[in-house]
Amino acid sequence: MLDTIKKIGVLTSGGDSPGMNAAVRSVVRACAFHNIECIGIYRGYEGMIDGDFIAMDARSVKGIINKGGTILKSARSKDFRTVEGRAKAHQELKKAGIDAFVVIGGDGSFTGAMIFNQEFNFPVMGIPGTIDNDIYGTTHTLGYDTALNTVVDAIDKIRDTASSHNRLFFVEVMGRDVGHIALNAGIAGGAEEILIPEEDLGLDRLVESLRRSKKSGKSSSIVVVAEGDKIGKSVFELKDFVDQNMEGYDVRVSVLGHMQRGGSPSCFDRVLASRMGVKAVESLIGGKSNFMVGLKNDVIDLTPFDQAVKGKSKINMELLRVSDIMTT
Ligand code: F6P
Repeated sequence: MLDTIKKIGVLTSGGDSPGMNAAVRSVVRACAFHNIECIGIYRGYEGMIDGDFIAMDARSVKGIINKGGTILKSARSKDFRTVEGRAKAHQELKKAGIDAFVVIGGDGSFTGAMIFNQEFNFPVMGIPGTIDNDIYGTTHTLGYDTALNTVVDAIDKIRDTASSHNRLFFVEVMGRDVGHIALNAGIAGGAEEILIPEEDLGLDRLVESLRRSKKSGKSSSIVVVAEGDKIGKSVFELKDFVDQNMEGYDVRVSVLGHMQRGGSPSCFDRVLASRMGVKAVESLIGGKSNFMVGLKNDVIDLTPFDQAVKGKSKINMELLRVSDIMTT
């Protein structure tokens, strides 16, 4: 155990996700367990630059494991992308006697931490927190499981209207660059088609598939569309195309939006957050730095930041095949 790490900072950065509070709780309590001081850093790297810090002990994080969002607040900091911004952040950390920090966020937040580590040789550790699940080095990011459950619940509800009115619904879900949410929630919600950025189905094939399903006796349908899907310019364009090229379908669009990012974290996300927080703190005091904590084959493991940032989180192609078979 390193005796140079006596005070650890913790921050949440980038888009919030359910489970971030559970991870903050875990970092704070793991520090308390190992007799290390813990400092909460507000508003991500913005707060680091401003020296917006708060001392946290085991009791500061009571009653937050079940809360969505982040009590530390989050931000996407433009200033931290500058040399001056990072120098100011370093000054503030030193002033507060902070020896290392844990950042809970996505790949942008890890890139910032990695550069900071290179510039100041400052010990850093990352915990992946984003609903998109788009980070290499972990099968699950914090918030992904909760978001999936939220989306499936929404699809189930939309299906009530779809089947009552014989309608076709395009349901847009989050996923700027990857289709993990769309693919998994689409299968679980019994979607007719799932449109993801990783696979370009094309408008004609979409219409063909919808015609086939109508012919096979289906009177209503749900098509789940990841927001990063490239097939149309937007989900509304898809609706217009189907309106113009298919008869007999009453088409509606439902964009789920930010409701997918909120809410109480699932059991899975709470346990994952607890495990990741402990691993992050124990890795730092064990002398490790510049890694992201991740889940691989149910083992909490470390991936170097540069790999986590550069690597691609891949869609499970088997799921695409299963989805095709399920729509028979
Ligand atoms: O958290 C990731 C994400 O949910 C993306 O899927 C989405 O494009 C983005 O956040 C939107 O975030 P914001 O509204 O905070 O810019």
